Amino acid sequence: MAHIVLENVTKRFGSTTAVNDLSLAVEDGDFFSLLGPSGCGKTTTMRMIAGLVMPDEGRITLGDQVVFDSEASIFVPPSQRKIGMVFQDYALWPHMTVEQNIVFGLQSRKVQKDDQERRLSHVLERLQIDQLADRYPNELSGGQQQRVALARELVTDARILLMDEPLSNLDAKLRLEMRVELKQIHEETSKSIIYVTHDQMEALTLSSKTGVMKDGEIRQNEHPAQVFDRPADLFVARFIGQTPINEFSMRFSRIGLERPEFALPVPPGLEPSASDELDVIVAARPEELSIVEQQDEWSVKGEGVSVLPMGYDSLVRVHVANGDEYVPLTVLTERSIADRTKEATVYVRFNPEFLHVFESGSEKRITGMREHSGAEVAYGRI
Ligand SMILES: Nc1ncnc2c1ncn2[C@@H]1O[C@H](COP(=O)(O)OP(=O)(O)O)[C@@H](O)[C@H]1O
Ligand SMILES: [Mg+2]
Repeated sequence: MAHIVLENVTKRFGSTTAVNDLSLAVEDGDFFSLLGPSGCGKTTTMRMIAGLVMPDEGRITLGDQVVFDSEASIFVPPSQRKIGMVFQDYALWPHMTVEQNIVFGLQSRKVQKDDQERRLSHVLERLQIDQLADRYPNELSGGQQQRVALARELVTDARILLMDEPLSNLDAKLRLEMRVELKQIHEETSKSIIYVTHDQMEALTLSSKTGVMKDGEIRQNEHPAQVFDRPADLFVARFIGQTPINEFSMRFSRIGLERPEFALPVPPGLEPSASDELDVIVAARPEELSIVEQQDEWSVKGEGVSVLPMGYDSLVRVHVANGDEYVPLTVLTERSIADRTKEATVYVRFNPEFLHVFESGSEKRITGMREHSGAEVAYGRI
């Protein structure tokens, strides 16, 4: 049975619909992340699960307890929902030391003294705050306070943990370390976690499932590798990825994909019937394109116009022209290869397995693309 279930949950603030008819099931022990741009409704969703915001419509079930049901007029207050929460505004008790803040929840749950101490020292070490045990919150940096708030929830027995951007105040290096710790802690405790972030790397590395949100709705809810490899729509394709995705309109038919500057074969798994002709948007990430020596059916000829060094790799910009018209393509490639493209004629090759084709109007992925497990491929490249 799913551990956390939202059914048709809606929340409006005046004329703003913050969360729109959202349904979601998080399995027991899942690490589910909600990913989306600022203002898309992530925090509101979390606060409704916690009981801090009352939905207008829908039903929320935690374990075997219905905690909200608009039709049956059920509302269970936050204190009775048996969940841990780490929110952006991590309210620590100002008059208590770090240690007291962390242990407080255990004392009120009547955890044995020696067990308290064992859990405390474990979590202090894991979150690299053991030096701070005797300090008060006002003697801590934002990042340190955030880790204390995290520690306070991780030590409890709550089977459900809600985290809203819990690493947002940490610098890049520490955030990476905390990600590893969080992942391990989740594996050790197998709590059901909902984790809100606008940082796609965090979502991709941590979660067993990722829901990509926009305007109060979940656009895609799948394993992160699947979200990365097979974005369900153009929004998801644009949102996920280190560098902006290449996109351009094409005409799709039995012959393949065409536009004035170049044509490509029918992508694998897409089999248009004789009558199908469709305006599509084709997208490919810079990582999914390569610079090749020789032309084949999946490569197009262009002119290297600029090289942007990014350390080990470089971003190459290539113009594929037809008369005065051209399409710009951005390719991520090894520095040595990139440096040879400047003002040179080059071939850019599309990877047929990673050619994302969306219908022009709906911007939804055209189904029928070959299924593949994806996991190794995606993680190998991130
Ligand atoms: N208490 C509130 N009153 C009015 N509008 C709100 C309130 N909380 C959130 N909103 C609005 O709801 C939308 C979703 O906000 P939020 O859930 O905080 O998004 P996110 O966490 O994804 O950034 C935004 O348009 C925001 O302005
Ligand atoms: Mg938020």
